[in-house]
Amino acid sequence: MSEARLGWRLPRVFAHRCGGALAPENSLAGLRIAARLGLAAVEFDVMLSADGSPWLLHDETLERTTDGAGRVCDASDERLRRLDAGVRRHPAFAGERVPTLAAAAAACRQLGLHANVEIKPAAGCEELTGAVVARQVQALWAGSAPPLVSSFSEVALAAARLAAPGLPLACLYERVPADWRVRMHQFGALTLHCAAALVDDRMLAEARACGVPVLCYTVNDPLLASALFARGVAAVFTDRIDRIPDGNAAAGHVTDHSSGGNTR
Ligand code: G3P
Ligand code: MG
Repeated sequence: MSEARLGWRLPRVFAHRCGGALAPENSLAGLRIAARLGLAAVEFDVMLSADGSPWLLHDETLERTTDGAGRVCDASDERLRRLDAGVRRHPAFAGERVPTLAAAAAACRQLGLHANVEIKPAAGCEELTGAVVARQVQALWAGSAPPLVSSFSEVALAAARLAAPGLPLACLYERVPADWRVRMHQFGALTLHCAAALVDDRMLAEARACGVPVLCYTVNDPLLASALFARGVAAVFTDRIDRIPDGNAAAGHVTDHSSGGNTR
């Protein structure tokens, strides 16, 4: 049984990788833009450095989003701290740093943003990443509603649950497996996240019947977002936070699927 609760109303729109397309991905600049555009929630990816510290990074390697090179899991905190995480996006963002999870948590709390922390383990580091990120999330959001924690890695999700049993978890898949209800129960997960292109109406109907919100990534077309909402999708992750406004509209309460479906 899950004791986890989502202590905030699920909005319809999450800024994907912090600020979507309007800022370097997984950056504090992105969080500031999301807040300025009135978003209620953001999603970002978290990976461990060689020192075992959580940083906001999506790829296992540094080349695409920073001026560094090599594997994130081989880079020390000192090295990550010195990297430029803005200039590859645009010279106007030069000097933007890779944020630590602690810096992102402080910014979210200061800006009033809710979060979906996606645990993004390097291959072979699933268990450690899940446990470290979950413990830090619990400590960093102490005294306020914690973020929703998700991962494509079920090993990482299991480790997160063990390390911080009260955290609200989400199952994240590209295509939702047929036994999704069993898996959600196993993790005490509250929400189900999947690729928008692979979401199917039968699963959406089953999720609706169970009171499980389905969240889809990555939706950048406002018409597609509207169509998904009409089909029963609760929320979307988008890069185009300028085109798919949140409007502070909430998708509704989350139901505890794992404990018999009590609405809260
Ligand atoms: O968590 C939803 C979405 O972010 C998953 O895809 O690759 O952008 O982390 P990705
Ligand atoms: Mg992500």
